[in-house]
Amino acid sequence: MGRNGISNETILEQLNWRYAVKKFDAARKVSDEDWNTLEQSLILAPSSYGLQPYKFVVVTDEKLKAELTPAAYGQTQIVDCSHLVVVAYKKVLTDADIEHFVERNMEVRNQPHEQLADYENTMKGSAKKAVSENTIETWNSRQAYLALGFLLETAAILGIDACPMEGFNPAEVNRILGLEDYSAVTLCAVGYRDAENDWLANLPKVRFPKEELIDRR
Ligand SMILES: Cc1cc2nc3c(=O)[nH]c(=O)nc-3n(C[C@H](O)[C@H](O)[C@H](O)COP(=O)(O)O)c2cc1C
Repeated sequence: MGRNGISNETILEQLNWRYAVKKFDAARKVSDEDWNTLEQSLILAPSSYGLQPYKFVVVTDEKLKAELTPAAYGQTQIVDCSHLVVVAYKKVLTDADIEHFVERNMEVRNQPHEQLADYENTMKGSAKKAVSENTIETWNSRQAYLALGFLLETAAILGIDACPMEGFNPAEVNRILGLEDYSAVTLCAVGYRDAENDWLANLPKVRFPKEELIDRR
């Protein structure tokens, strides 16, 4: 048994149980209690310097889900899922963003500003460099994918289904949701599988053998 009451077997069982669902059961909704845990998994994801350069638009409104579907090339997971998470990264990082984060540190940890000055300057330097080198969007979107990973794993452990999706038109999704400073980078449909009507439900996972993926030294 693992230290926190979740056994290794349970974790592996759930990770094998999960798959990228193609057909959700539109009648089943994730409970508020479970949804809260899933949202917390997004919030608790780590990010570079802790800057959290993203936000998550949670869509449950059926009309809005229907409006978004063509932007995801008609993928029905969007309408049939319980909650659709649009993971959006911040397109820039300004001094004001860093200062906002430093203020949050001061508030949460009760730290004086002087203690954070070096950290603040380092972060501002990294952000400026990334902006000038045109890598800021890559950097920020990478952070957003970590949050997606946390969501997927947490859902699997809770026995909740999900489908991560990059098959969509970001410009269209941004337009529909009115995103300007942020850009949608991945979607995640969350809900419950309709196993009987999902061609993928009973197929084995396709993964390379361990020796190909894990390089031990
Ligand atoms: C970033 C990302 C984007 C994906 N985009 C889509 C998508 O648009 N539609 C879809 O049905 N599956 C999508 N998938 C699911 C993958 O095809 C799936 O995760 C992969 O085949 C491995 O299978 P498994 O997740 O079922 O184990 C995506 C997965 C990831 C991680």
